[in-house]
Amino acid sequence: MQRTTATTLAVIATIMGIFFFPQSRVAAEVATKMTPLERVKATDKGQIKSPLSVTPEIIAEGKQLYQAKTCGACHGGNGKGIHGPSLINDAWIYGEDDDTLFRLVTLGSEEMLRSGYVRGDTEKHAGPMPSFSETIQDEQELWKIVAYIRSLKPVADK
Ligand code: HEC
Repeated sequence: MQRTTATTLAVIATIMGIFFFPQSRVAAEVATKMTPLERVKATDKGQIKSPLSVTPEIIAEGKQLYQAKTCGACHGGNGKGIHGPSLINDAWIYGEDDDTLFRLVTLGSEEMLRSGYVRGDTEKHAGPMPSFSETIQDEQELWKIVAYIRSLKPVADK
C-alpha cells in the first residue's frame, strides 16, 4: 500500500515536472523583462546595453517600428531630419552609445537635461524630443529602433 502511494506520488511529481517546469522558466524570463522606463530607473547611468545581435531582420523590424512609432514625423522617414535633428550625420546631441540613446528616447530631452545631460552638438531643431515611455512598452522594440538608426550611418551628406 505504501509502495503504491510512493509510486503514485512519483508519477504525479514527474507529470507536474513536465507540465510546470517549462512554465516556470517562461515566468522567470518574463520577470527579467522590463519596460524601457523600468530599465532606465533600475540601471545606473552608462550601464544600459543592447542585448540584441544585430541582423538584417532586426534592422528591418526596427525600420517598421521607427515608422509605426512616428519617429519619422520629426526625424524624417529616412532619418535625415525635418524639424527634429538628423539621425544620420555624425553629430550626436547627447551621445551615441546604447545607454544614452535608450535613455533619450525613453525619457525625452527635457528629462535628460533635468538629469544632468548636456546638449553637446547643437543641431537645428525645434522643440524638445518627447518621451516615448508610454508609446514603447517593450524594450526589445526600442533596441530594434536603435539598431535601425545605427544602420542609417554613415552617409555622404554629413
Ligand atoms: C515631436 C518630434 C519628435 C519625435 C516624434 C521624435 N523625436 Fe527624436 N528628437 C526630436 C528633437 C527636437 C530632438 C533634439 C532634442 C534636443 O536637441 O535636445 C530629438 C533627438 C533625437 C535623437 C538624438 C539625435 C542626435 O543627433 O543626437 C535621437 C536618437 C532621436 N531623437 C530618436 C528618436 C526616435 C527613435 C523616435 C521615435 C521613437 C523619435 N526620436 C521621435 C524630436 C522628435
